[in-house]
Amino acid sequence: MQRCQRWRPLASVSWVLLRTCRAHSGLPSTACSSPERQQEAGVWKDFNSRLATGPTFQHFLRNASVPQEKPSSEVDDPPPYLTVDELSGRQRKVYLETYGCQMNVNDTEIAWSILQKSGYLRTSNLQEADVILLVTCSIREKAEQTIWNRLQQLKVLKSKRLRSRVPLRIGILGCMAERLKEEILSREKMVDVLAGPDAYRDLPRLLAVAESGQQAANVLLSLDETYADVMPVQTSPSATSAFVSIMRGCDNMCSYCIVPFTRGRERSRPVASILEEVRKLSEQGLKEVTLLGQNVNSFRDTSEVQFNNAVSTNLSRGFSSNYKTKQGGLRFAHLLDQVSRIDPEMRIRFTSPHPKDFPDEVLQLIHERDNICKQIHLPAQSGSSRVLEAMQRGYSREAYVELVHHIRESIPDVSLSSDFIAGFCGETEEDHFQTMSLLQEVQYNMGFLFAYSMRQKTRAYHRLKDDIPEEVKLRRLEELITVFREEATKANKTFVGCTQLVLVEGLSKRSATDLCGRNDGNLKVIFPDAEMEDVTNSGLRVRAQPGDYVLVKITSASSQTLKGHVLCRTTLKDSSTYY
Ligand code: 5AD
Ligand code: SF4
Repeated sequence: MQRCQRWRPLASVSWVLLRTCRAHSGLPSTACSSPERQQEAGVWKDFNSRLATGPTFQHFLRNASVPQEKPSSEVDDPPPYLTVDELSGRQRKVYLETYGCQMNVNDTEIAWSILQKSGYLRTSNLQEADVILLVTCSIREKAEQTIWNRLQQLKVLKSKRLRSRVPLRIGILGCMAERLKEEILSREKMVDVLAGPDAYRDLPRLLAVAESGQQAANVLLSLDETYADVMPVQTSPSATSAFVSIMRGCDNMCSYCIVPFTRGRERSRPVASILEEVRKLSEQGLKEVTLLGQNVNSFRDTSEVQFNNAVSTNLSRGFSSNYKTKQGGLRFAHLLDQVSRIDPEMRIRFTSPHPKDFPDEVLQLIHERDNICKQIHLPAQSGSSRVLEAMQRGYSREAYVELVHHIRESIPDVSLSSDFIAGFCGETEEDHFQTMSLLQEVQYNMGFLFAYSMRQKTRAYHRLKDDIPEEVKLRRLEELITVFREEATKANKTFVGCTQLVLVEGLSKRSATDLCGRNDGNLKVIFPDAEMEDVTNSGLRVRAQPGDYVLVKITSASSQTLKGHVLCRTTLKDSSTYY
C-alpha cells in the first residue's frame, strides 16, 4: 500500500461595572432596575447595606490583576459585600450555549471549569437551568444578530419563570460582551451578567451579585490572563479530540477585524502548562489535540527570564508585520516539538496561523513527525495584492503564492485550507477575479468563505468605505464558493484509490450503518461499519470504535467528504510503515 502522490502545483482599556439602581444605592448608574428586579428587594436591601460598606476601588484593582498561578480547587475569598455562601454556586444549574469559533468552545470549557469549582452544576436542559450563559461572537454582524434573536426567546422563558423557583439569570460572555459593554445591559434589561473574554474567573462573583437583582459586568481586558492554571472541562466525555488554547488575543490589526478589540493584546500561555494539559488529555485517552490561538505561529513564551535569550525567528520572505518585531521567548516550533513528543499515538493539529511567520523549523517538524498532521490553514483573505494592502495583511499575492510553493515543496501531500472575505471595501470586479484565480491556483482542500461585514472600531471602519452593495457581496461570495467547490473536488479526487489513516469519531450523522472519522488532512471520511482485522493482534476481528485508527481505501470524493471501505485497525505508529 502506498501513499498517493498528490498533484502539487506548485493561519487596556478596561472597566469593571457593578451596575446598581441609583434610586436604591446612591451609586452612579445609567439604568434602573426593572420591576422584576425590584421584586427581589428583600435580598437586595441586605445586600445593599453591605454594598455601602464596600467594595472599594482598591478591591476592584486587586481583582483586576489576577495572578496567573492561583490555587484552582476552592472557592475564592469573598469580597466584603458577599458571604462565602453567596459566592458559591449553591448547586444552581448552569446551561451554556456556545456561538462562533473554536476559541469560544474552549472558552466555554474554561468558564464551566471555573463555575464547577465554585459549586455550580451543569445542565443540558434549558428548561431546568437557573443560569443561562451565552458565549458570544462579534466577528460579523450576523453573528451578533443571532444573539439578539436568542435573547428575545430567553426573555419569554424568563418572564414565564415560576415564582416558586429561584429567578432565572442570563449572562452574555465573550466577544459581544466585550464589544458592546453597557449597550447590552441598557438594550436588554433582562441580561444580568456580562463577562468579557478575560473575566471568566470573576463569573462566580458576577453571578452572586446578579442573585441580588443587580446587573453585574466585568469587561476588563488583561495583558497576561491565559487561564494557564484552569484545566478546561471537556464537554463531551466520549470525545476523541480536544482543543488546547496556547495563546489569547491578537496584535495583527488586520483592518477588517474586531478580534484585537474584543480579545485584547496577544499573550502566550507558558509552555509548561500547555504540556501538562496535553499530558492529562493523553492520559484520558484522547487521540487528537488542536493547539488553538488567534495567531499560533507568533507564539512566544516569555514567562521565564532564561527563555528570552532564545534566538529570534524571522518573518517569511516577502511578509511584513503591523507591529514592532518582538524578540526572545520560546517559539511555536519549540512548543510543537515538545507537544508532539508527549504521545506518539496522539495527532497534533494547530489553528490558526498567519502566513507571515512560517519558519522553516515548523515546516520541517510537520514533515518529519508522524503525529503532526500535514495540514495547514493558511488564511489568504484575498487574491488581490491591492485589497491585501487595504486589509493590512502584510503580504502580496505573489509572496503568498511563493509561500504555498515553499510549503508544498517542504511537506509533500500537505493539505491546505484558507479563509476568504468577499466584498471588502473598494474591491473591484478585477480584485474579485484575482481571488477566484488564487482559489484555482492553490486548489485548497478546505475553505471558509465570508461576505465582508463592517465592524466599528476597526481601521477599515475609520479609514475606508464599506462601498460594495450587499447583493454584490453575496453574488461574489456565491461565485467564490462555486470555484472553491470545483477546485476542492478536483483536489480531493486525487485521494481516490489511495489508503488513508482515519481517526474514528463515531457514527455518521447521515447513516446508522456508516462510521465517520477524519484523515490526516482533516477531511471527513465516511465508510461502512464492518468487521476488520486488527494489525496489532493478528487473527483478531474487530469493529472500529471512536478513538481507533483505521486504514480506509478511498473510493469516491466530493468537495467536503471522502468515502471508502475499511481495511484494518492499526496504530498511528504502525501506519507510518505504509507511507
Ligand atoms: N467580515 C467578514 N469576515 C471576517 N473575518 C474576520 N473579520 C471579518 C469581517 N469583518 C473572517 C476572516 C477570518 C475569519 C475568522 O473570519 O476570514 O480569517
Ligand atoms: Fe471567536 Fe473571533 Fe468570534 Fe470572538 S469574534 S468569538 S474570537 S471568531
